[in-house]
Amino acid sequence: MMRARIGVLASGGGSNLQALLDYLTALGEERAADVVLVASNRAEAGALERARTAGIPTAIIAADGRDLEALLMEHGVDLVVLAGYLRFVPVAVTRRYAGRIINVHPALLPQFGGPGMYGARVHRAVLAARAPASGPTVHFVDEVYDHGAVIAQWRVPVHPTDDETTLAARVLRAEHLLFPRVVQAVAAGKVRLTPDGRVDPPFVLDPATLPTLDPELDDGSLADALQRSRPLSS
Ligand code: GRF
Repeated sequence: MMRARIGVLASGGGSNLQALLDYLTALGEERAADVVLVASNRAEAGALERARTAGIPTAIIAADGRDLEALLMEHGVDLVVLAGYLRFVPVAVTRRYAGRIINVHPALLPQFGGPGMYGARVHRAVLAARAPASGPTVHFVDEVYDHGAVIAQWRVPVHPTDDETTLAARVLRAEHLLFPRVVQAVAAGKVRLTPDGRVDPPFVLDPATLPTLDPELDDGSLADALQRSRPLSS
């Protein structure tokens, strides 16, 4: 199988990058992609350190991303994965990679997204709105911030006692399980973005088949629930 060449863009600690690397390693020969580049707008991003530890080439990119397209070309990247990347991706890149660029956002889009909605601000907004649930959204990236076609969501309960730290941790746990599986499915060509902007086959995780994440369950049981909800990773 020809494996996709993933370029990961990350601004922060890189725990989603790590989850992706671990998942692809666990899949072994079944993996549909390899991470061949990790780039960041911040030299001190923990994601870069994780990449170095894994022996993956790293790069620093300008805050406006003007050098990003050339960098992706240079590394032969065919799937761009935004894993906690806080900068706008230039239109030249989102156009070139239409259907081959995905992002994870820590709330249920279209709510609680858009420019400036990242990190703790997202979780604060969810709590302020007294939303009963939150959870990660994985979506194709288009020219508008947090706007592209939704591939998958997983509802996570919001507890009355939550603060932004406890909620962020619960959502992040769901991200770590969901995101790598969606990346694998996109890389394997199991999910596509159609020219008219639909996800084909439909991939949004239906609450009827994927129950709201139960934080009491261990990761293995949660992964099983994901697997049962649809054939995500094969
Ligand atoms: C995640 O919550 C992700 O959804 C958001 O930024 C956070 C990144 O965390 N876009 P990490 O750098 O992957 O640990």
